[in-house]
Amino acid sequence: KGLKDQMVIDAGQKHFGATICKSCGMVYSADNPEDEAHHVQYHQRFIEGIKYTSWKNEHVVAEFWDGKIVLILWNDPKYIVKKADDIRTFVDNELGFKQIVQTYPSQTKTYLFVSNEKKIVGCLIAEPVRRAFRVLSEPITVESPAENNLEHQHAWCCSTKPEKVYCGISRIWVFSLMRRKHIASRLVDVMRQTFLFGCYLSINEIAFSDPTPDGKLFAARYCKI
Ligand code: ACO
Ligand code: ZN
Repeated sequence: KGLKDQMVIDAGQKHFGATICKSCGMVYSADNPEDEAHHVQYHQRFIEGIKYTSWKNEHVVAEFWDGKIVLILWNDPKYIVKKADDIRTFVDNELGFKQIVQTYPSQTKTYLFVSNEKKIVGCLIAEPVRRAFRVLSEPITVESPAENNLEHQHAWCCSTKPEKVYCGISRIWVFSLMRRKHIASRLVDVMRQTFLFGCYLSINEIAFSDPTPDGKLFAARYCKI
């Protein structure tokens, strides 16, 4: 059965000619006009959305060989706050999150990873959070893609005893074609150094809110659980 299914899938891919766009990362069928049109639309919005323009007094909180991390605060120039909002909406769409009301808009900090090509390729949104529940189950660390599915099905359970934390990561996102380059890790590192003035937050003092399967794999590795 497995082999037959595989052949059907292969034939399908050949027929539809699945292509991955090197600029926006969308996978689409070049042979399918509808799909192609959808790509053109997504592509333009994506390219426009991740375009970054430096501004006077921007808060560069870290610089790397492949880019920089810029912090956006609620009282920054309107157009840059709007940029952060647009990125948030885009990430929410991508994650299938519904519009969530921010608890403390004035205390929300958005960190953008901007590449040397002036594109926003990573985003972390941090909010003050006071209590969180520790993840108890041991994640299985698997490397092979076939076994990754197992990881995704793995049940995670949480302690019932709340613990004191200072910061919650409400969103973390890295552009699909730039993943596994430690961009998310660097965003979290910099957030821990700058979220509370004059204080370096330990891993136990931050929390990930409602993570996706990717988010769990990343968080488990980052927090070494
Ligand atoms: N599978 C397995 N391990 C992973 C994965 C993954 N998909 N992603 C990260 N890790 C682990 C690896 O051990 C990695 O180190 P290695 O590459 O040296 O092995 C380590 O975490 C550090 O990963 P980074 O390179 O720093 O992570 P990246 O920049 O790729 O970003 C992220 C991770 C943000 C989860 C990205 O995959 C993404 O944007 N996914 C889609 C959006 C999403 O689901 N975001 C999380 C939502 S949950 C929330 O926001 C609270
Ligand atoms: Zn594209």
